[in-house]
Amino acid sequence: MLKGILNYAHYLLEESIEEGETVIDATCGNGNDTLFLSDLVGESGFVIAFDIQEQAITVTREAILQRQKSNVSLIHDSHENIKKYLPKDKTIGGAIFNLGYLPRSDKRIITRSVSTIQAMDVILEFLKKNGLLILVVYHGHEGGKEEKEAILKHVINLNQKEFSVLRYGFINQKNDPPFIIAIQKK
Ligand SMILES: C[S@@+](CC[C@H](N)C(=O)[O-])C[C@H]1O[C@@H](n2cnc3c(N)ncnc32)[C@H](O)[C@@H]1O
Repeated sequence: MLKGILNYAHYLLEESIEEGETVIDATCGNGNDTLFLSDLVGESGFVIAFDIQEQAITVTREAILQRQKSNVSLIHDSHENIKKYLPKDKTIGGAIFNLGYLPRSDKRIITRSVSTIQAMDVILEFLKKNGLLILVVYHGHEGGKEEKEAILKHVINLNQKEFSVLRYGFINQKNDPPFIIAIQKK
């Protein structure tokens, strides 16, 4: 069976992340991926989750508290500053970005190519061998096309000796369907 976009993103994370690892949710939003990652790495692991919106941090904090998770660090800052928050000696087990805007929120607050690419490059530097950085690319909104194109241009040019880059998406869907870019470090 072909997996839907979010299922496939979670499947890839499940396949590549091990208990005890440090992982990144670059855009926590309502916290769905943060909780998923928290379960994957278990109590001995650690999730670092970013969002620039107070609302997203508050909603995610509530979800974490409700499920009594103690392995998440929520950071109210742009993921482009990620280097400041990474433990120096740790490799990253995996990472996910959900691009676009927070559903049922201000559609003008969106991820932007410059900061997304800056964060991606830092994560790729610290990613474990065979680890995955996943981008779920929503691009139907205003500003989405620019971000999509800049990111595609960037990942297409990643050195194939160092990274494998996969694009996964449904090509017969209407209305700018989202797709996945998965980058594996060799
Ligand atoms: C599509 S939503 C994320 C959905 C989320 N993964 C979930 O499960 O609900 C995108 C989020 O990225 C956040 N965002 C936008 N620019 C950002 C940046 N530079 N750094 C961190 N978060 C950012 C937005 O505030 C928004 O909450």
